Amino acid sequence: MDLQEIKQSVFKEIGEAKEIKTLEKVRIKYLGRKGFLTNILKSLKGLPLEKRREIGPIANELKREIENALKDKKEFLITNASFRPLDLSLPGKKINLGHLHPFTALERQINEIFARMGFEIIESDEIETEYYNFDALNIPADHPARDMWDTFWLKEKSLNKQKYLLRTHTSPVQVHYMEKHEPPFRIVSPGKVYRYEAIDASHDIQFHQLECLVVDENINFSNFKFIVLSFFQQLFSKEIKIQFVPSYFPFVEPGVQINISCPKCKGKGCALCKNSGWLEIAGAGMVHPKVFEYVGYNPKQWQGFAFGLGLERIAMIKYNIPDIRLFNSGDLRFIKQF
Ligand code: PHE
Repeated sequence: MDLQEIKQSVFKEIGEAKEIKTLEKVRIKYLGRKGFLTNILKSLKGLPLEKRREIGPIANELKREIENALKDKKEFLITNASFRPLDLSLPGKKINLGHLHPFTALERQINEIFARMGFEIIESDEIETEYYNFDALNIPADHPARDMWDTFWLKEKSLNKQKYLLRTHTSPVQVHYMEKHEPPFRIVSPGKVYRYEAIDASHDIQFHQLECLVVDENINFSNFKFIVLSFFQQLFSKEIKIQFVPSYFPFVEPGVQINISCPKCKGKGCALCKNSGWLEIAGAGMVHPKVFEYVGYNPKQWQGFAFGLGLERIAMIKYNIPDIRLFNSGDLRFIKQF
């Protein structure tokens, strides 16, 4: 091949190359050790000076042009590699969608159940005074029952010299609500509570409760039982049974602890219910007349019941979560399961 022929074929071949592999073959064919152009360049030495001066620059220029053309075409092939025809049979890219935190989802579900039963959902504050968290709930300062709630006290004092604290339960909502409203009513109030406690798999210094309060004329224990049972049956299943065990809280009389039959083993006994078939789920009782007196209600006219549910505990039972610390861990492996 002479220079003219090379020129004619090499650029055509580069232009037609569809793969980098083909380009490399073209390079070897013309510029490789035994390539057509290499041969011509090698043969220059044997030519007379004049011929060398004539052909040399042309051949070298052609070499540069071929090298540039190869380089450009290679870049083109690389950047346009994605211009493949659309292959509808390829699997699609999965997009990660965000979703509600399992705890938020549960809280909404619980609120909905109560809303359907005619309850109003009340917001409340996490910083409280000693009066609302304790005194007005019939727990005076020297009362041994105060030890039931290990308290985070705050340094500031309120205007009337009351001490501030992080509420240890949602029961102060009862007092706030009754101070501002007249019965009859039914309310629930979910929110954070705080306890100065050692953290382990079932205790955290911050967790959630849901306070329920119903006040009306002629409210009795049967009404109370009915609401509690129907709530748990809606939340877990129709098969849930409840049990009221005598207990003590200064702001209720009688006071009870509510147990539900273990939803996992249906009461037969398993690791979750420690083989008892029952799970402790709430503190509860009929509102103490003293509490009504604190808020200015006539205890002879009004009766009521109240309970406080531990929401993490419910979530742990419902979703089989072994450790309360997982809720706030921010661990996506945990959250993505829901
Ligand atoms: N506030 C109580 C607690 O946190 C629970 C409770 C609520 C008990 C309402 C009786 C009535 O332990």
